[in-house]
Amino acid sequence: MMTKTFAAAKINLTLHVTGQRPDGYHLLDSLVMFADVGDRVRLEPADAISLEVKGPMAAGVPADASNLVWKAAALYDLPVAITLEKHLPTAGGLGGGSSDAAATLFAMVDLTGNTTMPEGTTGLGADVRVCLARQAARMRGIGEDVQPVEGVPELHAVLANPGVAMSTPEVFAALDEKQNDPMPKRIPRWRGAWSAIDWISKQRNDLQAPALKLAPVIGDVLAALSALPGARMARMSGSGATCFALFEDRGEADAAADDLADAHPDWWVTAATLR
Ligand code: C5P
Repeated sequence: MMTKTFAAAKINLTLHVTGQRPDGYHLLDSLVMFADVGDRVRLEPADAISLEVKGPMAAGVPADASNLVWKAAALYDLPVAITLEKHLPTAGGLGGGSSDAAATLFAMVDLTGNTTMPEGTTGLGADVRVCLARQAARMRGIGEDVQPVEGVPELHAVLANPGVAMSTPEVFAALDEKQNDPMPKRIPRWRGAWSAIDWISKQRNDLQAPALKLAPVIGDVLAALSALPGARMARMSGSGATCFALFEDRGEADAAADDLADAHPDWWVTAATLR
């Protein structure tokens, strides 16, 4: 038996850093949605665990036991041959590694029929929990507190990454003020994309300023996204360098993504629908 799962890109529409724990991890308050673009994970029972990495973004991705998909599969007794097809930029603020790990866990559930997640899943990475939720969610604590947010309208986006890999610990270290305001207590029930984007635009990504210090090209990405026809707002996701612009209409996002890709052939650019 062989099983395939989709590892959706995770977008932090907001990311407020509200404190730091004594162990150095940061407390977050983040609204997360998932895109219809992502990586693909394929698993097949085998004599021993193995990993092949392919796809347009495979360069530099380790195909050994250090990869999160390997670590996730190794939580089970069943050895599997893993094929990971990378479409998302790595170290790009889209939670690719965490989403790949979550997709591997779902595939292992499929193969083993065992629906209880093994111990050690959260140790794989701070974003694995939210990637297991696979739906719009509010993430708090250091990522372990995940509450699904119901009734969020579909949003459309252009995602752009200038090809610089960001180190998440370095971006956190470059953040001067660790105690920032959380999001409002209640996330409203929006009547449509327009009001959702209006609310999101009033929130922040506290990692955007420190990431801009480390990689000024992120400023060019944000400026280019903001200038796209139909773009309502632009912001960075996670610790960067991928940024997103939000649209109310998928057709507008598709046209804008084509324009941006033509203007910046060296950037990774795609339109996406967020759910
Ligand atoms: O858990 P993950 O490997 O995704 O996190 C990468 C690094 O980002 C951590 O080692 C830590 O330095 C930083 N981090 C943090 N606070 C979080 C999540 C990650 O400081 N809530």
